[in-house]
Amino acid sequence: MPSYRAAGALPPKRHIQFRRPDGGLYAEELLSTQGFESLYSLLYHLRPPTATLDVRAWNRARPQFAPNEPLRNRHFRTQRIAAQGDAIEGRIAVLGNADVTIAVAEFEYPMSYFYRNVRGDELLFVHRGSGYLESPLGRLDYRAHDYLIVPVGITYRIVPVERTRMLVYETSGPVQIPRKYRNEFGQLAEHAPYYERDFRPPVLQSPVDDVGAFEVRVAGKERNAIYTVANHPYDVVGWDCYCYPYAFNLDEFAPITGKLHQPPPAHATFESPGAAFCAFVPRLFDYHPLAIPVPYNHSSVDCDEVLYYVSGNFMSRRGVEEGSITLHTAGAPHGPQPGAVEQSLGKTSTDEIAVMVDTFKPLHIAQAASGVEDDEYYRSWLEVPATT
Ligand SMILES: [Fe+2]
Repeated sequence: MPSYRAAGALPPKRHIQFRRPDGGLYAEELLSTQGFESLYSLLYHLRPPTATLDVRAWNRARPQFAPNEPLRNRHFRTQRIAAQGDAIEGRIAVLGNADVTIAVAEFEYPMSYFYRNVRGDELLFVHRGSGYLESPLGRLDYRAHDYLIVPVGITYRIVPVERTRMLVYETSGPVQIPRKYRNEFGQLAEHAPYYERDFRPPVLQSPVDDVGAFEVRVAGKERNAIYTVANHPYDVVGWDCYCYPYAFNLDEFAPITGKLHQPPPAHATFESPGAAFCAFVPRLFDYHPLAIPVPYNHSSVDCDEVLYYVSGNFMSRRGVEEGSITLHTAGAPHGPQPGAVEQSLGKTSTDEIAVMVDTFKPLHIAQAASGVEDDEYYRSWLEVPATT
């Protein structure tokens, strides 16, 4: 949970008359999550956000998923998936279940419409590129290695300045900071690997005083629509509270290291229903004199682990490249590949960057991923790679 923020012009109390210079009333909007029970923000618009001219179907192609069957570890070279379109239409699903969809998007064009996801929060990881995410709450500049957290229901548009590649997690609920990093009041604890100051909020821009016909594409739970609204979505003069997009860059992540190998939960960044997110960033290795820097063999018996390789030397993995995704599935042990343990001995640091999500329901494989799968990956732990 981010902390309280306020920007722009606000009345002294909520839900009271707040007048424009011309004497008319600003239109207050409560943007609330989980009914009225969880995070919310109050926005003050020049004109009501409710003025709708038209609603029509959005016949958006739905990704086709197949079970991970036969159940095995997999490797997808997602950089080989052809890029297309903008930040939304260009999303190509790789893996998914009822809790989270994992997609990649590579794009160079700004969205020509506004977009609103009302299924759950989105967690966007910027692999490469720069640009900005704009919403009624302001402009949020992004750069490589940013996580962008976009709460459910925020209307937004992504404008790349440079060609951008993102890893996209569409979740089914709030993306939260793990409870273990917060004290009883919600403040980040002293032992947390990040700090409130590390989170960048949007910068409110001058309100767009414009009426006309504006397209908002709405992605709902099993239901999509294209709205045409009469008032520009970015006509906000002020907002406050806790529900807003924000950014966190991995350069600000202060990894927790130790005398012995630290398991992935030590590298946790965020969590959402049925999903736990981690980041592996440049860091010093374990300092026991006999420490083994690469991870031990691991059987994660009841969750699926999905690593996305960003940059650096992925010491424990054979055959992966930047943009690779590995799925280490429940039911199949994984670990360093032959030779990796010996090669790692004596190393004191790593420059690798990778991000991970663990899911607690089985992941299914999207059609686009099947086309870029390294079919031999599950045999990559053999001492001598098998020939087919
Ligand atoms: Fe693992």
